[in-house]
Amino acid sequence: MKIVMLGPQGSGKGTQAAKIAEKLNLPHISTGDIFRENIKNQTELGKLAQEYTNLGKLVPDEVTNKMIADRLSKEKKGFILDGYPRNSKQAKALEEMTHIDYVINIEISDNESVRRISGRRTCESCGEVFHTIFKKPKNEGVCDKCKGKLLQRDDDNEEVVRKRLEIYHEMTKPLVDFYRNEDVLIEINGEQPIMKVFKDIVMNLEREKE
Ligand code: AP5
Ligand code: MG
Repeated sequence: MKIVMLGPQGSGKGTQAAKIAEKLNLPHISTGDIFRENIKNQTELGKLAQEYTNLGKLVPDEVTNKMIADRLSKEKKGFILDGYPRNSKQAKALEEMTHIDYVINIEISDNESVRRISGRRTCESCGEVFHTIFKKPKNEGVCDKCKGKLLQRDDDNEEVVRKRLEIYHEMTKPLVDFYRNEDVLIEINGEQPIMKVFKDIVMNLEREKE
């Protein structure tokens, strides 16, 4: 099954994609995670991406499209794609790469986005995502899974989040209508507890399969 996760910053794309990937035994492919891994290792791609991610801007389409085309060509069984596509050019590029079965759009308000992002903490070793209020680690600042250190992402400050949201509304949100017209859209209320959002996603996927 080939699934795309859509939604604003902090809506839970990464959180839910990881859970769906585990349930369906499919790879979770996050463009943001790939860029952050490259930034950490200071690869050529990482150095370029850093100039954009730190400002909350999109990495140029040519670079992102190529990176995803390479990655998807290796995934014959399916995938959960998180953070791509993010504008109409990327959506067209994806159409040329493969057929998508479902697009899961998780909706939350801008105020909720800012609230979630400011409390997010990410494990520097394994990438597991926590929240200071909504998904607390057992020991403060320490990853439950691998005992790695929990850090705040460089682009998770209010100024950059506002910029990311501005771009989301201008470039990414129009994709919701595009996929609704394609009849592959599943719409989910993201302003519910993590497990309830997951339950709604699973229920919708099962209903679609019938
Ligand atoms: P990316 O990493 O994709 O960031 P984003 O789109 O801004 O989304 P986030 O990761 O911030 O939010 P999320 O929806 O995954 O939320 P999460 O599950 O973590 O992209 C980063 C940058 O990379 C971009 O700005 C751009 O520069 C570049 N980039 C990426 N893709 C690109 C592309 N296609 N083209 C060009 N450039 C690209 O949850 C957030 C927090 O809330 C967590 O702490 C979590 O624990 C908590 N939480 C989650 N769900 C709930 C809930 N239901 N209730 C309470 N708390 C919750
Ligand atoms: Mg994410």
